[in-house]
Amino acid sequence: MNEGKFADRVKYLAPSPIRKMMAIAKELVAEGKTVYELNIGQPDIQCIPEFARAINKKASTGQINYAPYIGEKYLRETFARYLNHYFDRRRVSHLVVDTENVLVTVGASHALSNTFLAICDPGDEILVIEPFFSPYIGFLAVSGGVLKSVPTRAEDGFALPSDEEIQKHITPKTKAILFNSPNNPSGKIFSKEEVERLARIALKNDLFIIGDEVYREMILGETEAFSLLQVEFSDEDENEKFKNSMIVVDSSSKSFSLCGVRIGFVVSKPGLLEKIALVNAHTVACVSDLLQYGVAGAYDAILSQPEFLENLRNTYRERLDATMEAIDEFLPNVVAPRPAGAFYVMIKFPEIDDANEYCHFMLEKFNLGGETVAATPAHAFYRDPELGKNEIRVALVVPPDKMRKSIRIMAEALKAYKIFKGNQAKPALW
Ligand SMILES: Cc1ncc(COP(=O)(O)O)c(C=O)c1O
Repeated sequence: MNEGKFADRVKYLAPSPIRKMMAIAKELVAEGKTVYELNIGQPDIQCIPEFARAINKKASTGQINYAPYIGEKYLRETFARYLNHYFDRRRVSHLVVDTENVLVTVGASHALSNTFLAICDPGDEILVIEPFFSPYIGFLAVSGGVLKSVPTRAEDGFALPSDEEIQKHITPKTKAILFNSPNNPSGKIFSKEEVERLARIALKNDLFIIGDEVYREMILGETEAFSLLQVEFSDEDENEKFKNSMIVVDSSSKSFSLCGVRIGFVVSKPGLLEKIALVNAHTVACVSDLLQYGVAGAYDAILSQPEFLENLRNTYRERLDATMEAIDEFLPNVVAPRPAGAFYVMIKFPEIDDANEYCHFMLEKFNLGGETVAATPAHAFYRDPELGKNEIRVALVVPPDKMRKSIRIMAEALKAYKIFKGNQAKPALW
């Protein structure tokens, strides 16, 4: 198929393991099988009805137009209001986000790929804290950039390593530090001290710093996330320099249950924002006008109905409680730190070597009473091929009773998988 004719970057654009698993699960569902699809962070919670109302209202005007490449003013204003409201709720008083600080993109995915296109030349490096959302590799490959990682370990609660350790990973090619808090897949929330430390390292090395905050509302315990937007340096010049290199990415996908709408945001200083916005202009021209109205309707509604986000948190907390209880009961030998945010649980299976094989076995060869589970093998969340090999990630996307059932299915699948492996290992009889 003329392989040699394609650009080198295509080599790095292999389908992600998350998508591979999703395709198999969808096929099985289409065949009528019951699969608990815990493999993808696709919220099952209904979005706020004002989204549909706003879409219908706009559609009924009969005018669906091109939007400005930086985003529809109405949505940018509403998102800025939402962010200010978010900080008010948390009593963060020193910070005001303005319309001019907001760019609208096609989801956080596009916010990130546009940012990389705006700051990276081929060969430039982005330093990410590991484990990380695996599609970052592809988002960056589009600009010819290379993802490098700073490892953290489940055993240490994914704590950020020392400044000296992080500094070792910074090279003349490094353009930015990227971190995601609350984190997919680990559920870690970076503490104030950790975020400030990363900001200080970025400042010292003259790097951009990118905070992926798509799970900011999805808090599973008592601790709120500390936003990159909250960082302030006491020295005025340092603060100014830092603010001019800070990029925050957000999305309507997760907390607002609007994954399929594909609307995300970049928040930064106007000069920096304009550069990233130009990538919008020269790639997608602009984001769907109609959908921007819908999302603005949803964010606007949240301001007067804060209970929507409160209910969302309670829903995920109940699912997490059921999941952790079921893990204790059915999978006593695994390591599964309780996540502080986002909506995933990472489970390490000391008894197996290849979680990828176990996940495929469970999905394609195993069922309990006609039901099975799709989970994501976690090796893809690490850059180091030796890490994550016996870990999986499950998303809290079904009600508590089904989360419990899924964990039971996983435990039974584990027993069957061990027998399958044992039989495979036996020498053939002939
Ligand atoms: C950490 C993280 N960043 C970005 C994204 C992409 O979000 P969006 O749907 O807005 O493109 C996801 C989606 O799962 C994610 O988990």
